[in-house]
Parts: sequence; structure tokens; C-alpha cells
Amino acid sequence: MPEHALEAVGLHRAYGDVRAVDDVSFALPEGGSLGIVGESGSGKTTTARIVVGLEQADAGHVLVRGRARGGRRRGRAQRLARAREVQMEFQDPYLSLDPRTSVEGVLRETLRLHFPGTDHDRRISELLDQVGLGTRAADALPRQLSGGQRQRVAIARALAVQPAVLVLDEAVAALDVSVQAQILNLLADIREETRIGYLFITHDLGVVRCVTDDVIVMRQGRIVEAGPTAEVLAAPQHPYTRLLLESAPHPGWDPEAIAAARRAL
Ligand SMILES: Nc1ncnc2c1ncn2[C@@H]1O[C@H](COP(=O)(O)OP(=O)(O)OP(=O)(O)O)[C@@H](O)[C@H]1O
Ligand SMILES: [Mg+2]
Repeated sequence: MPEHALEAVGLHRAYGDVRAVDDVSFALPEGGSLGIVGESGSGKTTTARIVVGLEQADAGHVLVRGRARGGRRRGRAQRLARAREVQMEFQDPYLSLDPRTSVEGVLRETLRLHFPGTDHDRRISELLDQVGLGTRAADALPRQLSGGQRQRVAIARALAVQPAVLVLDEAVAALDVSVQAQILNLLADIREETRIGYLFITHDLGVVRCVTDDVIVMRQGRIVEAGPTAEVLAAPQHPYTRLLLESAPHPGWDPEAIAAARRAL
């Protein structure tokens, strides 16, 4: 049986009376892509933060490649190893990029931290290449880059540590639709090349349609529907999923549009 890149089992998290995450379980196969959709406040980000380890679950556990992702780890080496397993992308990478550090510097810092004592020049150009940033961008500072380029830098930084899972929380939401298409294409290519697994959080069902194999629909902390993306979107079983589909911002999103955007690159 193929191992799961990621498994969440019975996650719970409450803030006072609010059950932000209420018995959430899912599995992400190696190299798979799982979408989490749901209205604002449904518990998507809290789930992601638990998976990444930024938040403690009240109950339940998370497995990465079949191994329990324990609570607070002891030593520095263990904490770094844990950080390497699951990486996270946010909507605005600007906030997590040091304004004084160049693109190359960002990658070098990450590589030095996780793989000290080796020469990183080759890996840096490999990573820049992988995310479609030329060597010209290497010396640029974050403010000199476009939103799409910054997202590419953040992706390169995440890939640098060779994670099993990349969690993307509304990672393309702030980008123009054409740039979104480019980044989604890039992510699809990277998944093919690296067999990294994606946990893809988005409001946008069009994005889910393009980049996920399976999807879970969350409402008020609970999973109300789950299944293969094509099936869930074609024939939603839960009224809430139907409502989400009806209120989708741009249902015109389709693989054709993605392919067209790719040809225009
Ligand atoms: N640190 C916190 N303290 C108190 N309540 C919180 C905290 N974080 C989240 N919540 C609450 O938990 C619930 C789930 O929030 P969460 O951010 O996970 O939703 P979300 O699905 O990511 O929403 P959005 O689509 O707006 O990003 C909400 O009711 C939110 O107000
Ligand atoms: Mg959120």
C-alpha cells in the first residue's frame, strides 16, 4: 500500500466556545493534492496550522509519511527536521520575506540552516530554475519583485528543504487571474517532478478544480463532504457544497484557461 504523505486523524481545536476544528480527518497520498474549501471561519487555516505545527490540537494527531508528528520537540535538530517535513505558503509572501535579503540570500539562508557545511551554489540555481526565476532575479530584493515572483521565491524556499508536504493557504488568492494560472501551472509541474504532496486551501472552487485530486468541504469546523474533486464538483451531495458552487466567484476557471495561459508564457 502506498504510504500517505500526510494523515490527519480526528483533529479538534476549540477557542473558548468556538469549535474551530471539530473531528477533522483526511489523508493525502504521496504526490497527491488535496483541497480544503469552505466559507470564511470554517476552520481551514486552523487545520493547516495544526498540520504545520504552528498550533497544537486539543485532540487527534498528524502523521507524516506514516510517522507521528509529535508535539513540541526537544532539540534544535529535531525541530529543524520537523520543519522540513511540512512547509507552508501564505497568501502574501511579502510578510515572510526579509526586505533586505535578496532572492539568492533567502535561499542560501534556508539551505545553510538545514544543510550546513556544504556548498549551495548549484542547488540555488537549480531552485531558481525550478520555479522559473532567472539568475537575473537572484540579486533582487523582495520589493523589486512582482507578487507572482515573490510567490515563486516563497515556493523555492519551501522546496529547498525537500518537504513531504506543502500547505498552501490561499497562496494565489491575491494574484491576478493570469498570474494565478502561471503559479498553478508551476505548482502542477513541481508536483510531477518532485512527488511533493499539496494541501491546498482556497475559497476558489475553480482553483480546486484545477489543482486538486480530492477535496474536503468544511463548515463550522466539520467536514461536510469529501471525495474526488471531479465527483464532488460535478455532483455535490451536501446542500452546503451546492451553495458554495453556486456562489463561486468565477466558475469560468477551467483547464482550458490554464492551458491557454501556459501557451502564452
Ligand atoms: N487564535 C484564535 N483565537 C480565537 N479564535 C480563533 C483563533 N483562530 C481562529 N479562530 C476562530 O476559529 C474559527 C476558524 O477560523 P479559521 O481561521 O481556521 O477559518 P478559515 O476557514 O481559515 O477562514 P478564512 O477563510 O476567513 O481564512 C473562526 O471562528 C475563528 O474566528
Ligand atoms: Mg483562513
